[in-house]
Amino acid sequence: MASLIASSVAATLLAAHVAQAQPAVSLLIDTGYASSGPLHVASILPAVSARKGQTFHFGSTYDTTEAPQSWFDTMFESFFKHVVSENGCKWDATEPEQGVSNLTECQACHSFATARGNSFRGHNTFWHQQMPAWLPGNFTASELVGNIIPQHVKQEIGGMGPSVTSWDVVNEVVGDNATTGMTALQCVLSKADWPTVTADGSGIPLVKDLSFIYAAFSTAFATAGPNTRLAVNDYNTGGQDAKTELAIGFQSHLTAAVGGFYTKSELATTFSTLAKLGVEAMITEMDIELATNSTAFLRYQAAIWGDYLDACLYASNCNEFINWDPRDDLSWRGLPAAATLFDGEGNPKPAAYEVAARFENFAAGKPEPCSTSSGTSVCKLSRH
Ligand code: XIL
Repeated sequence: MASLIASSVAATLLAAHVAQAQPAVSLLIDTGYASSGPLHVASILPAVSARKGQTFHFGSTYDTTEAPQSWFDTMFESFFKHVVSENGCKWDATEPEQGVSNLTECQACHSFATARGNSFRGHNTFWHQQMPAWLPGNFTASELVGNIIPQHVKQEIGGMGPSVTSWDVVNEVVGDNATTGMTALQCVLSKADWPTVTADGSGIPLVKDLSFIYAAFSTAFATAGPNTRLAVNDYNTGGQDAKTELAIGFQSHLTAAVGGFYTKSELATTFSTLAKLGVEAMITEMDIELATNSTAFLRYQAAIWGDYLDACLYASNCNEFINWDPRDDLSWRGLPAAATLFDGEGNPKPAAYEVAARFENFAAGKPEPCSTSSGTSVCKLSRH
């Protein structure tokens, strides 16, 4: 899965040399479902949840600084019904001074959600990026594990309260070269960037025994509400590999090219493996970069989005699906990547209509459509 990506820089580099070919895909919006005009998702979600037997959370990122506010107001009433703060709940925002909790932006996003009948998920309590300047390198290992990390996780999860559907307790901790049988040290990503360069010169003890992950999770378990899901959230996850085995939050920053996404059957296998363990799965940060913003690529994007959504909908243990950035002009992957459901002016793209169609199909009790991103030679869809 080399062309799934870790950063926008990597995405840009990869886009330059991914295969330009895209299959002729078969979409539900070709078969009588709406492909223009008003989008109905919010009104369908209650029937989706009823069929699943529990609330299905479908949403996107938001921060109060984002504009235009009127577009957000409309879209988080009619289309998205679940909110993640894009940056407002990260450690640099929530504890800008050591020991001083600042949940202002995180709470504002939560209030934005609640006021529009949306649910809210938390991202994140621990990541090697967007850490406050006071943290890395300034504490001993025992201070970090015994005090700094538990205090931060407790003040954030406790402060946001029990209504949060899920928390990314640790974000991007699994190494890219993870293999079965790896040591704990090998499986930790970007170890040089974590607050493991400790003031006591004790090398890398936090990484070596994963004690920072233990510190974060044990505090989260003790602090979170009884219905809050606690996640290891990571990118390049979803298939049958060692990295996926360590995560339950699948970021899904994808590229519309063979090898740039997991097939629906790979995702289905992963979700059912977790279901057998009694563990939930979730799609936490979905976007799909396009090599070209053309009709063919927009249709390919719609097919991949539909397949990811179906994989989650038809799984017994997948109940949260987050789109990372709601429109192309606000996307962390850049406007030319055209990686979201809505274009740079906020107009729905084929993927947005396909998502609505997949919801409608599911809510009506129809069987799961075939894997449409594989192309019409493999899959032909028709109204059943
Ligand atoms: C990104 C945000 O979208 C940007 O606004 C910010 O500048 C950097 O972080 N994986 C994650 C997210 O877990 O927090 C990242 O969000 C995207 C990659």
